[in-house]
Amino acid sequence: MQVLVTGAAGYIGSHVVKQLLEQTQKEIIIIDNLSTGFLHTVDTLKAIDSTKRRLKFYKEDLANFESIEKIFKENNIKEIIHFAASSQVAESINKPLQYYLNNSVNTISLVNIAVKYGVEKFVFSSTAAVYGEPEQTGQLISEECLTKPINPYGSSKLFSEQVIKDAAKVNKNFKYIIYRYFNVAGADVDGKLGECHDPETHLIPLVVKTALDKRDSITIFGTDYGTKDGTCIRDYIHVCDLADVHIKALDFLENNESDIFNCGYGYGYSVKEVIDSVKKVSNYDFKVNIGVKREGDPSILVANCLKIKDKMQWKPKYNSLELICKTALKWEENFSKEKND
Ligand code: UFG
Repeated sequence: MQVLVTGAAGYIGSHVVKQLLEQTQKEIIIIDNLSTGFLHTVDTLKAIDSTKRRLKFYKEDLANFESIEKIFKENNIKEIIHFAASSQVAESINKPLQYYLNNSVNTISLVNIAVKYGVEKFVFSSTAAVYGEPEQTGQLISEECLTKPINPYGSSKLFSEQVIKDAAKVNKNFKYIIYRYFNVAGADVDGKLGECHDPETHLIPLVVKTALDKRDSITIFGTDYGTKDGTCIRDYIHVCDLADVHIKALDFLENNESDIFNCGYGYGYSVKEVIDSVKKVSNYDFKVNIGVKREGDPSILVANCLKIKDKMQWKPKYNSLELICKTALKWEENFSKEKND
């Protein structure tokens, strides 16, 4: 029996596979089309597999339904953790159909095959973007809040959630966990994996690159929000804590019903606080510009994460902005060294 991880050559998926290798005995199948993930990430994961037998990699696109079905025929997949998706909000506004095809249609097809081949557990990577603009600024966002996405990325994920829920209603052996991530950040605490997006748009990797002189400056998108220092507030969750809840989800579904959980720490930091933290851990005072607001950025997005703490008995281990920035910095340093070797 194997666990299939789609999109495992990417940022979050790779951290999950590392933990599956280190903390379980499971055999793992990776499907990734390498459109945004990297072969070097798969190689890093293969090197972590001391048995050299537990990891099988298929370079394949989920849109090739027949090839995907062949993988199910060749193996005995009973669990799926589904990450493969397009995940850039701005890009989704310009290329909505690409997002609905790659995120929603491919998820429908994967769920369809999963049900056909008797998959019992499906863990889905969703996003806080399904909530859209919070109805009341500053209120912690719980799973009960209205879902009203404001971009195709959020809509494509919300539609996928619905597909998974509807499939589970009529297939009693098919259970799911849907995770709605807030701002995932940081890197593997051992320094082996980290974030590489091209182009990079996320705050922490951009600030870290600035601290390493790979960029001249960082621009703060707006300083007149109604927050303590005027900059936007986000709930940053360390990628290793996020990876851990995916492993927990598989155990949880043994004795519990399907469910939806927010993934965050329930505490927000401002853009200025993030920049100050990177300055502190890098011991470098780089240039910061004040720019205009970025379209579609809500001022405060912080999770109410009581449900996951309560129902899954989840205790985060890396709940520290400084640690998030430190691991992101270390990764960026290591990664550039490797590239220059
Ligand atoms: N920011 C800057 N300067 C930059 C980059 C970002 O000031 O150069 C600010 C943004 O305005 C925002 C904060 O830093 O206030 C965080 O921005 P990110 O781009 O890192 O992340 P977002 O909050 O925009 O997006 C994240 C995920 C999305 C998800 C969304 C859910 O990356 O995938 O949360 O709300 F959809």
